[in-house]
Amino acid sequence: MAVIAGDGIGLEVVPAAIECLDRIASVHGLSLRWNHLDWGSDHFRAHGRMLPVDGLETLAKHDAIFLGAVGVPDIPDVETLWGLLIPIRRTFDQYVNLRPVKTLPGVRSPLADDRPIDLVIVRENTEGEYSEVGGRSHRGQPHELAVQEALFTRPGITRVARFAAALAAQRRGGLTSATKSNGIVHTMPFWDEVVRSVVASSPEVELRSELIDALAASLVLRPWDYDVIVASNLFGDILSDLAGAVTGSIGSAPSANLNPERVHPSMFEPVHGSAPDIAGKGVANPVGQLWSGALMLSHLGHAQAAAHLIAAFESALADGVRTRDLGGSDGTADVTRAVLERIDRLAREYAP
Ligand code: NAD
Ligand code: IPM
Ligand code: MN
Repeated sequence: MAVIAGDGIGLEVVPAAIECLDRIASVHGLSLRWNHLDWGSDHFRAHGRMLPVDGLETLAKHDAIFLGAVGVPDIPDVETLWGLLIPIRRTFDQYVNLRPVKTLPGVRSPLADDRPIDLVIVRENTEGEYSEVGGRSHRGQPHELAVQEALFTRPGITRVARFAAALAAQRRGGLTSATKSNGIVHTMPFWDEVVRSVVASSPEVELRSELIDALAASLVLRPWDYDVIVASNLFGDILSDLAGAVTGSIGSAPSANLNPERVHPSMFEPVHGSAPDIAGKGVANPVGQLWSGALMLSHLGHAQAAAHLIAAFESALADGVRTRDLGGSDGTADVTRAVLERIDRLAREYAP
């Protein structure tokens, strides 16, 4: 596995997660080999680029990529993100960004109604609003302007809709498509049409299309009503922070950037960023990174080991071990220690 801890709290939560993954591996007889790559903003400062020239070729040789986060206040995000995160997602055709959102034991939602939430966001991850088509011109002039094209293709929508429909069919059969098709955004009637035609061949899936603005409100009012949500790149990005917060904190939210055909490596990273406001203080919540690690184990065919890791951090949370963002006062190291201890305690139950 290639590991890029990156910047900010990535440098804190990635080592924490690796410690736990190594412990899981030893219980399950797996050999996880980590190739630590110090690519991030320091690499950019030293070499003028986030990735070495052959960085993507290096990554291509791995079974998976485990990423923390990139981004620092003194380097424009356009360098850090277009220099590392986005090229990885695109080069390896990681067109599904899978973001499970689930109530964790003992963790309270900020919502008054605390009914359990269990949904999955399937975010389109290679096209849409995140296109490279656009730019800024007439800088500094009174009529300065910026243009961004949203680029949607029939194959691009079809493949993500197919993935989402298959996932919904394995779950509770509900699929919500995030849209904005009321005639204002030209791409969205196309999105709707393609999603509808894909889902038509899955009669067991009930498709609802919801306007993104109303859907955002509904996710706050009735998040437990959702099963699978399929969304374009930008809509899915926004909904995943919202949904993460609704279950307690974005610090616990995981994600898997999947190349479902497995031609290329997939990448596993938390939903959150490098959190410069808390970086270096030892207070970051490692659960999003740990859970992303469990998604990685599962993707690599180690479902039992993944379940063990999830059970371990759930048990720590259930016992009240939690960071500040979850209302606790534990640091990253306290949570890590508690998870390691539960991995050992649960070992007999989960070991093959
Ligand atoms: P952020 O997700 O880093 O932080 C948002 C808020 O959530 C902050 O208050 C932060 O303290 C808190 N938070 C996030 N993760 C937490 C955790 N694990 N534990 C406790 N609190 C946590 O988003 P931002 O502040 O908008 O972005 C910061 C930088 O990260 C920017 O440069 C941005 O571009 C980058 N970013 C990178 C990625 C990535 O690499 N995948 C993702 C999102 C943002
Ligand atoms: C995420 C992040 C990225 C995105 C940013 C940092 C480019 O917010 O992974 O959710 O928008 O995809
Ligand atoms: Mn995001």
